[in-house]
Amino acid sequence: MRSLIAGTGSYAPEKVVTNADLEKLVDTSDQWIVERTGIRERHVVADDQATSDLALEASRRALDAAGVDPKDVEMIVVGTVTPDYPFPSVGAVLQGKLGNKKAFAFDVSAACAGSLYALSVADRFVASGAVKNALVVGADALTRITDWTDRNTCILFGDGAGAMVLKPTDDARRGIVSTRLHTDGSLVPILLQPGGGSRDPISEKVVREKSHYVKMNGREVFKVAVRSLEESCREVLADEKLTPGDVTWVIAHQANKRILDATLSRLEIPESKCWMNLEKYGNTSAASVPMTLDEANRAGWLKPGDTVLMMAIGGGMAWGASVVRW
Ligand SMILES: CC(C)(COP(=O)(O)OP(=O)(O)OC[C@H]1O[C@@H](n2cnc3c(N)ncnc32)[C@H](O)[C@@H]1OP(=O)(O)O)[C@@H](O)C(=O)NCCC(=O)NCCS
Repeated sequence: MRSLIAGTGSYAPEKVVTNADLEKLVDTSDQWIVERTGIRERHVVADDQATSDLALEASRRALDAAGVDPKDVEMIVVGTVTPDYPFPSVGAVLQGKLGNKKAFAFDVSAACAGSLYALSVADRFVASGAVKNALVVGADALTRITDWTDRNTCILFGDGAGAMVLKPTDDARRGIVSTRLHTDGSLVPILLQPGGGSRDPISEKVVREKSHYVKMNGREVFKVAVRSLEESCREVLADEKLTPGDVTWVIAHQANKRILDATLSRLEIPESKCWMNLEKYGNTSAASVPMTLDEANRAGWLKPGDTVLMMAIGGGMAWGASVVRW
């Protein structure tokens, strides 16, 4: 038995911040941002919105598409690094908001790879028959931990949520066929939120030093991202005796157009096979993969039996790739 992605949904908050808006905040330009990243605008949470609010909208849409009543969900896994509260989990908050009492719910912390990690965990439960369905969400409000005076980071991030509903299938031609996940903890320093955790709890000093915001060595992240994404894609394809030429569609974490272009070029997969939306949303962290999947799905791109290659990388560094027969 395998698990099948039976429904997808996504949500981006209404407020839009354009590159022109950022020109007023930091020393940057629309031209620089577009050339270096491909991003033109991003959606940003309203003052009264938190990650679970984004997750709820995306989840409702995915459950509706899958024909699953929110009360019948048996497992909820949320990939996020910007929970509503340090604890409990967004999963727990989301379960409450869905009016569900049946599901066990928790979060997975793997930054921008969070939804791929969450998908992999839920896949094991569904494919083993332990649960009859699972709601997998990637949701982040990264702009809440973004320093709007740091031009190295504030141009990149946006907020959003994406959701996938997994159900079991006996159809050997369909479902999640293989996933490979990796972590390299020696790379923690190149992308992290240093303050506000148990190492340096929130304090006047943390706020003064702005260490509760995302810190990133962009050049290092870029290099690691291209190398790691290529390797994990090749590995997961080899698991199924596939080559990049067998891939029908690519659903990739939307970090930076240049990272994706370089990765696709190394894999010799044409850009036309990769759904791109970072122009509109920027890097939405764990939301990125399921938001992208939902857009491609609703646009009618994905047909039963298509080979979909999914890939993501984020702070940790944590990364991975999946092959899904749609
Ligand atoms: C962040 C990133 C876009 C920067 O692009 P880059 O080509 O590496 O740029 P550099 O950091 O080398 O900086 C080049 C110059 O542009 C400047 N610069 C940096 N940000 C800028 C901005 N927003 N606007 C204008 N200039 C900027 C730098 O200060 C530097 O100037 P200098 O040459 O005078 O020192 C790129 O490194 C990147 O995308 N990295 C990966 C980030 C990512 O995806 N993170 C999330 C992973 S999940």
